[in-house]
Amino acid sequence: MSFISTRVGQFTYFDLCLGMPEWRTRRVLDFGGNIGNLLTAGSTIDPRNYWCIDVSRDAIAQGIAAHPQAHFLFYDRYNWAFNPAGTEGLPIPDPGQRFDVIVAYSVFTHTNQSETRELVAQLRQLLAPGGVIAFTFIDAGYRQSKQPGDGYFEGTNLEWRLEKAKRLNPHVDIDAMREKARGAAWITLVNDERLYVDDDDADAAEFSRQTGYHTFCSPAHIAALFPGAVVVPPPRDAYPPPIAYEMQHCCLLLA
Ligand SMILES: C[S@@+](CC[C@H](N)C(=O)[O-])C[C@H]1O[C@@H](n2cnc3c(N)ncnc32)[C@H](O)[C@@H]1O
Repeated sequence: MSFISTRVGQFTYFDLCLGMPEWRTRRVLDFGGNIGNLLTAGSTIDPRNYWCIDVSRDAIAQGIAAHPQAHFLFYDRYNWAFNPAGTEGLPIPDPGQRFDVIVAYSVFTHTNQSETRELVAQLRQLLAPGGVIAFTFIDAGYRQSKQPGDGYFEGTNLEWRLEKAKRLNPHVDIDAMREKARGAAWITLVNDERLYVDDDDADAAEFSRQTGYHTFCSPAHIAALFPGAVVVPPPRDAYPPPIAYEMQHCCLLLA
């Protein structure tokens, strides 16, 4: 079975990052939207105005069943972790619509730099006049602001991921990884065991399995990759307890 997301709260996240727009009348494309969790947990998006495009075949099937008025499109493009049998470089399918809002939560945190640029350029072609793209990225050096409650991690986003990698693969040298990542604009952690920086890219042939692909990008580098981008820090209080913290920044691009 391909990946099914259990995460909720994406609506609140984008609502806060976009300044609480009037969603009801807006056409929304949820790129990498999985089973359509953007339509849950307080969402005011009209399902008839909602499109989801995703490379997880099972998620698309589940989304169609859960939200029959919405529109779900399977996109059989290769992705290291989510669709390793897909076709490399396949263009985004034309949904026959233009969108007021295009969101992507935790999608370009799993694609390489050139693919991120390519996909965002294609998404720009799908914007209606006055539309906006909002996609998340993870800043390696970001430290969640301290708040009371469970779940707070003292270190940076990269340290959080490396500690997780160490738990999964006790043989990995996370001190060496941390050193290698220092000052990098783009960091990729593959299968929680190999770390690449900047333009280095992992080759699937070097690995016997493909389990995870996590990227990190500094806000300054996002601004350099996407001139005119507005970078919004992770909104605080986006979620009710127990999810007290948000680690992802948001990049806003206007039509
Ligand atoms: C971490 S999940 C996030 C899912 C969803 N946005 C959420 O917040 O629950 C990443 C999603 O991106 C999808 N994905 C990865 N590469 C993609 C691509 N090139 N085009 C569309 N979806 C993609 C995956 O199938 C997966 O559903």
